[in-house]
Amino acid sequence: MFFGVLAGFVWTIAKVALPLMARQGIHRGIELDEPNALRNWTIGIVVVALISGLCTGMRRYLAFGVAYRVETDLRLKMFAHLQRLHFAFHDQSQTGQLMSRAATDLQQIQGFIVMIPITFSNLLTIVLVAIVVMVINLKLALLALAPLPFLNYMANRFSKRIHPVAMELQQELAGVSTSVEETVTGIRVVKGFGAERVQSARMKETAARVFDRAVYAGRVRAGFMPLLDFIPALGILAVVWYGGHEVLNGRLSVADIAGFLLYVNMLVFPLRLTGQLVSQGQRAVAAAQRIEEILVTEPAIVNKANAVSLPPGNGDVVFDNVSFGYSREAERAVLENLSLTIHAGEAVALVGPTGCGKTTVARLLPRFYEVDGGSITVDGVDIRDVKLNELRTAIGIVFEDTFLFGDTVAANIAFADPEATQERIEAAAALAGAHEFISELPNGYSTEIGERGFSLSGGQRQRIALARAILADPRVLILDDATSSVDPTKEHEIRDALKTVMKGRTTIVIAHRPATIALADRVVLLDEGRIIAEGTHVELLRTSSRYREVLAQAEGAAA
Ligand SMILES: Nc1ncnc2c1ncn2[C@@H]1O[C@H](COP(=O)(O)OP(=O)(O)O)[C@@H](O)[C@H]1O
Ligand SMILES: [Mg+2]
Repeated sequence: MFFGVLAGFVWTIAKVALPLMARQGIHRGIELDEPNALRNWTIGIVVVALISGLCTGMRRYLAFGVAYRVETDLRLKMFAHLQRLHFAFHDQSQTGQLMSRAATDLQQIQGFIVMIPITFSNLLTIVLVAIVVMVINLKLALLALAPLPFLNYMANRFSKRIHPVAMELQQELAGVSTSVEETVTGIRVVKGFGAERVQSARMKETAARVFDRAVYAGRVRAGFMPLLDFIPALGILAVVWYGGHEVLNGRLSVADIAGFLLYVNMLVFPLRLTGQLVSQGQRAVAAAQRIEEILVTEPAIVNKANAVSLPPGNGDVVFDNVSFGYSREAERAVLENLSLTIHAGEAVALVGPTGCGKTTVARLLPRFYEVDGGSITVDGVDIRDVKLNELRTAIGIVFEDTFLFGDTVAANIAFADPEATQERIEAAAALAGAHEFISELPNGYSTEIGERGFSLSGGQRQRIALARAILADPRVLILDDATSSVDPTKEHEIRDALKTVMKGRTTIVIAHRPATIALADRVVLLDEGRIIAEGTHVELLRTSSRYREVLAQAEGAAA
């Protein structure tokens, strides 16, 4: 930044010197007709112009370099911070909105930093030019410069007026892209419900608002531009009119007038820019505050100061009297006094009606949320005392809604360990019952799958997600409804796979299909955040009417 400002200063001095040199050239070479003067001054002008050109290039290069570096650093910092923030934060904020907001804020800051060197140059230009013209002829200088502060003022007002309109326009444009994106990603729903017309009507409204704002922005610009263009002409008018008479009266030379005109012109751009810079600065400050707001949000779930490593073990899990609610305002906690012991290597099926808290149990174990009461231990250590990354590496989850990244099948499976060999990837896929269909894909394991893996069926996506969890080789495996969208006729394949995966590994299976439940050593029936029955599938079928009800409901829903 320092060198950028320095280059700007040299550029300014060269630029201001040029008309002075031209004036000397005209005066000495033409008016006084000194020998060689015209040639010497012309050469001098070329040299100074070269320096000016070089310096303005350097100034720009350095200014943009710094500005983009700041933007990139801030972007990376924000991205890292967003990844560190707890789940509850992401539950509340629309991450997409946040990131696009941040993108425009980053641009504002970058746009301001780029302007810093040129602003110093502009200020120096204004001071130098004012001094030079005043030395040449004080009265004419005052006349010529008088209208110019008004230019600065108008530029500032223009910038203040146009900015809110530009922001509105940007907002409306964001609305258009959201609309298009939703319609395209949800095209199955749109077409399925024959809602093309409705979507088109919505788009018509949004597009009309964009048009309206764009035209309004054009009008604001059109209103200011004539003034911004005209004001400098007043200075030129003063020079030609008053200066002309001074020349006629012999008090000023023609060369002086030519110099004056060049100088008045030289001030137009700096004054306009400085006027806009004030409001640009205010916007950059506001943008910086919004970014700061995100950066100062402390992640709620972090390593304890004296966090310990997870001791070796086979995944002994104990929920001791755990209570938990997503928000403290809620009337009833989601989980109440839940106690559950899962021995190392045991497979437990968690069964219960929708919304009873099964997924919540799964989320508490890797400490996505902090328990309100009681404690959870893994291999004898409270999870709050364990290093977070070790805890989460030790627990593998196949989520209810499978998320696949826009990458190859192999990369999706090897997500936990990008260095994994092809053999390991294929072994994991085979265990998840996915190897066969992956081999039949056009490019096998190298097939690119879409952002949401759309070219695959729900069951195929779940199996890839399962392979991903298997490759990570976790101590505790959690399968949240992981076989729900697997075709029942194919279920036996994945069931065999699951049997192998679960062997000797602590597993929590959230399921409602009897065939999947039967894989577990023990079934826990959850209702309204409490455990109401425990036993084997057969035992519960016999003893618990609620269990039979829940299974029947699930089957009914599936049918
Ligand atoms: N991120 C969340 N924020 C607030 N409430 C939630 C969140 N996730 C789930 N809930 C609520 O917690 C309760 C239990 O949900 P969940 O554990 O997903 O049930 P299940 O998996 O058994 O269907 C539900 O009432 C649900 O509305
Ligand atoms: Mg659930």
